Amino acid sequence: MTADLPAATVQNVLDQDTLKWVFVGGKGGVGKTTCSSVLAIALARVRTSVLIISTDPAHNLSDAFQQRFTKTPTLVNGFTNLYAMEVDPTVEHEDMGGPERMDSLISELANAIPGIDEAMSFAEMLKLTQTVDYSVIVFDTAPTGHTLRLLQFPSTLEKGLAKMMALKNRFGGLLTQVTRLFGVDDEFGEDALLGRMEGMKDVIEQVNTQFRDPDLTTFVCVCIPEFLSLYETERLVQELTKFDIDTHNIIINQVLFNEEDSESKLLKARMKMQQKYLDQFYMLYDDFHITKLPLLPEEVTGVEALKAFSRHFLTPYQPSSSISTVKDLEGRVSTLRQQLKDAEEELERLRRGKQKAQGH
Ligand SMILES: Nc1ncnc2c1ncn2[C@@H]1O[C@H](COP(=O)(O)OP(=O)(O)OP(=O)(O)O)[C@@H](O)[C@H]1O
Ligand SMILES: [Mg+2]
Repeated sequence: MTADLPAATVQNVLDQDTLKWVFVGGKGGVGKTTCSSVLAIALARVRTSVLIISTDPAHNLSDAFQQRFTKTPTLVNGFTNLYAMEVDPTVEHEDMGGPERMDSLISELANAIPGIDEAMSFAEMLKLTQTVDYSVIVFDTAPTGHTLRLLQFPSTLEKGLAKMMALKNRFGGLLTQVTRLFGVDDEFGEDALLGRMEGMKDVIEQVNTQFRDPDLTTFVCVCIPEFLSLYETERLVQELTKFDIDTHNIIINQVLFNEEDSESKLLKARMKMQQKYLDQFYMLYDDFHITKLPLLPEEVTGVEALKAFSRHFLTPYQPSSSISTVKDLEGRVSTLRQQLKDAEEELERLRRGKQKAQGH
């Protein structure tokens, strides 16, 4: 690599101290949770307070940190300024306000506008994050399709609000009558819902503006060196560009590095394939910071493993054959010594045997 290329690490994310929102996203299973957790740990070293949020209904922050998290921010064990929370954007009806009897009515209304309940709970969640002054918020997002929907929530909410208003005007007091019929008083009636949506709209509009500000927000794409992942990344980058969301980091996870020495034909073939896609990543994203992470023989779970893995985020990965040359050589010398000793003993035995035979 030449000096003009962006550094091959995510150090730039740590250096950009104006950042308030860091999204981490990509295809399922590529390592988003691992990467967002490591990034959050690294940010906790340089920022006052960090919150990591998982918006994936199939949460795995708890698995990565080996600690149970809920929908309220919890301090991560072993840290004084790193908090984590898991929110489920699809089942937050109890948070839609009011007593349980409201659920069905609100659900009915919500169902009339696809994505509105998700948008509402996203807004609720964003509102919650605003109550505490975290210096940076890291999002471990769900697989691609969902992430992009999440970023469209502000407009979904606006459209939903317009639709509700239209319904209200069309049916006049009918809705109010219906809500009364169901025993719902005005406090939780449709006016209250509209009011809450209006209130939410302000938060979401404000956040929406922040998401489009590259000083405040960036999206880190995580992928693996395979065709589908390259294709998904390109789609993601294009969508983000369309939404005016800054992205200039790609993390390529699960890279095979020093397996050339391996006897395995399979590994050699996989390496060759990976190299083909790595070349394409470098060609397509020559203005991005591309960080390569090694595929480890074991999973990356628990704070210690995440911390150990974090070094690959900040210094380009060096295959062990080149960094521990001395150690490797020492190992090889001692193996050769042992083999030499064995061979000498074997030779000695043979000589004795021969002498014995000649002596007879
Ligand atoms: N470089 C790596 N080497 C070895 N194991 C890894 C590596 N990166 C991630 N893993 C492991 O792979 C599994 C999946 O990783 P992770 O949970 O980070 O992916 P994800 O993209 O968040 O998945 P999902 O889409 O299901 O949320 C985890 O068990 C993790 O420990
Ligand atoms: Mg995950």
